[in-house]
Amino acid sequence: MKNINPTKTIAWKILQDHFQNIKYTTITELFKKDKNRFKNFAINFENEILFDFSKNIISNKTINYLFNLLKELEYSNSIRDMFYGKNINKTEHRSVLHIALRNHNNNDFIVHNNNIYNDVRNNLSKIKQISNDIINGIWTGYTGKPIKNIINIGIGGSYLGPLMVTEALKSYHNHLNIYFISSLDATQLIHTLKYINPEESIFIVSSKTFTTQETIVNACNIKEWFMENTSNLNINDMFTKHFIGITSNTTDAMTFGIPQQNILPIWNWVGGRFSLWSSIGLPISLLIGFKNFYELLHGAEKMDHHFFYSNINNNIPIIMALISIWYNNFWNAETEAIIPYSYDMRFLPKYLQQLNMESNGKSIDRTKNNIDYQTSPIIWGDIGTEGQHSFFQMLHQGTKIIPCDFIAPVLPHIYLQNNHNILISNYIAQTRALAFGNNITNKNDINEYEICTGNHPSNSIFMRKITPYNLGLLIALYEHKIFIQGIIFNIFSFDQWGVELGKKISNLILEDLNDNVNNINKYDSSTNGLINFYKSFL
Ligand code: F6P
Repeated sequence: MKNINPTKTIAWKILQDHFQNIKYTTITELFKKDKNRFKNFAINFENEILFDFSKNIISNKTINYLFNLLKELEYSNSIRDMFYGKNINKTEHRSVLHIALRNHNNNDFIVHNNNIYNDVRNNLSKIKQISNDIINGIWTGYTGKPIKNIINIGIGGSYLGPLMVTEALKSYHNHLNIYFISSLDATQLIHTLKYINPEESIFIVSSKTFTTQETIVNACNIKEWFMENTSNLNINDMFTKHFIGITSNTTDAMTFGIPQQNILPIWNWVGGRFSLWSSIGLPISLLIGFKNFYELLHGAEKMDHHFFYSNINNNIPIIMALISIWYNNFWNAETEAIIPYSYDMRFLPKYLQQLNMESNGKSIDRTKNNIDYQTSPIIWGDIGTEGQHSFFQMLHQGTKIIPCDFIAPVLPHIYLQNNHNILISNYIAQTRALAFGNNITNKNDINEYEICTGNHPSNSIFMRKITPYNLGLLIALYEHKIFIQGIIFNIFSFDQWGVELGKKISNLILEDLNDNVNNINKYDSSTNGLINFYKSFL
């Protein structure tokens, strides 16, 4: 991986000049100039995903200049470094090989001289076995009843991937129920426990480190609750029949009580936010069955292949990354909105927040220098059409530039006459309204307050259907987009040191909340004031 400040490249300067030339060009003009703009600025991937990037303020020149930027940064070497298992997560001395988790052709992934292919395959067999046993009622609870409820205890990457995917693939669910416990706010835990019966439930303690405060506190609470709400319980049965651990810290998981045979690995070459393809995806496999889970992996593998082998002109993750760089670093757009027109995909914005912002929210470059250009955009969003009745007003007439990704399935899983056509008409209409506005020639024909100038950029992603395979394609697409942006930003995308400081300070403050000293004054006046206000009620 070359360490190059992108703003010092020739291509960057050219892009800055180009921005000055194109900034008053409208999307309307771009469409008028090129009658085949849709054909020229859309990529159809296997008829499963259509990526239309024509409604952006970009010309052929823009795209070519952006390609030149990537070439000047020797991006292809960086991609190769990741795929060949080099230690690209340098600050943690790790390879980054989530791609190996979904690869079933290449049996040659080497990490620290070990071939990891067999580990991955063996673990997939274990996921399959556990899934089949639980789904088919072979794995029973301590009273002999089949399992009905799966409770995932985890946070961040040990929660958001399984949450987003199980919801997005709701139409593939079997008879099992899924619950997620992530919060330290006990209301989530207590409300969830109301609905479940210990003897029919499996608790998956999902934590790569097995030290994450939220997860461990909740897991301990559940252990106590389990014992309090069961009778004639043999403690060994509680752990062997009701607790599964997913972690790279087997020692702590075993100290907690989970027997070794119930612990599935997650390797240190898998980042938390890239881990849904690993054992962390067990709840997905449980809810949709291993065959469908495998299809999800297969879709992601197909996208890996596309990303690695496709020509830059046709490479969807690369083009998406460059469009995002264009707005983030040349137009000074602060945010990007993710807007799925699918209720089942409602957690996609939340999932992509972690994927994007935890990866690329950095301000120190790969040579330890402070960065003086923008890195990760702020990711936000919500489903359409709900968003149309809340924040879309700002998208249409506000002062900020907010590039959007609109995502929708052509074929719904549940077809109600009319509903889907109306939904899709809204999906397509929004991108048109944003791009072209009222499209009026004479301003006198319209009340000033109704004027929508248009020129608001968006990508449209049409999925044939939200199948496991297509969802795999989509998620991997965003993973690679974010990786490419990290290469350009010259940052380490696979660590998250910033999160640590908050954890450290909260541990210090916890001590202050728990002790008997009444007037804390060792911090700044605001922190002291907040602690003392809280303690005045204890
Ligand atoms: O938020 C920081 C973080 O380390 C994430 O990167 C990770 O996904 C999450 O915490 C949970 O970590 P763990 O799986 O170790 O509990």
